[in-house]
Amino acid sequence: MPADRSSLSGQGQTVCVTGAGGFIASWIVKLLLEKGYSVRGTVRNPADPKNSHLMELEGAQERLTLCKADLLDYESLQEAIQGCDGVFHTASPLTDDPHQMMEPAVTGTKNVMTAAAEAKVRRVVLTSSIGAVYMDPKRSPDVIVDESCCSDLEYCNNRRFVTWV
Ligand SMILES: NC(=O)c1ccc[n+]([C@@H]2O[C@H](COP(=O)([O-])OP(=O)(O)OC[C@H]3O[C@@H](n4cnc5c(N)ncnc54)[C@H](OP(=O)(O)O)[C@@H]3O)[C@@H](O)[C@H]2O)c1
Repeated sequence: MPADRSSLSGQGQTVCVTGAGGFIASWIVKLLLEKGYSVRGTVRNPADPKNSHLMELEGAQERLTLCKADLLDYESLQEAIQGCDGVFHTASPLTDDPHQMMEPAVTGTKNVMTAAAEAKVRRVVLTSSIGAVYMDPKRSPDVIVDESCCSDLEYCNNRRFVTWV
């Protein structure tokens, strides 16, 4: 069913979603399109069939552009983010191998934040992990965790949650 025009709060605004073909990002792209935003989705390979669902989303033909970008290629991110009002940064390697994980996660996030600051983007939303905030034995399990909370590194090391640090 076509979106209700009165709910098109994003009309006239452009949002970049990194790793657009991923699980969380695909939902974000769908919801942004439904709200009338124009979307720039970054993917490493626009021709990869695993990204083909994106152009089938409602509104995609008119308002979705797929940009080829890698988290370690600053210029590709800069190009995708330039002119955007907002960025959802969801692209991240999901692996237990620290060597494959750390550089794209850390340098890639810095690259996205720098490109967003340079482009004067109004808001950046970064998907983190429950693992980054929840694991602190000194905090009561009743506390609602948010971005002000941080997992206890020593506790994680001792419990082998992050064996590579
Ligand atoms: N799924 C959950 O329930 C959940 C819960 C909490 C937090 N999160 C966090 O949310 C984020 C996204 O999770 P997800 O489940 O949606 O993951 P996903 O489906 O694996 O999507 C991750 C995306 O990141 C892209 N990517 C990986 N390495 C890249 C690189 N070097 N350059 C550019 N793109 C790269 C992948 O693109 P390619 O297709 O090119 O490989 C993929 O599309 C992650 O940070 C995850 O920790 C997820």
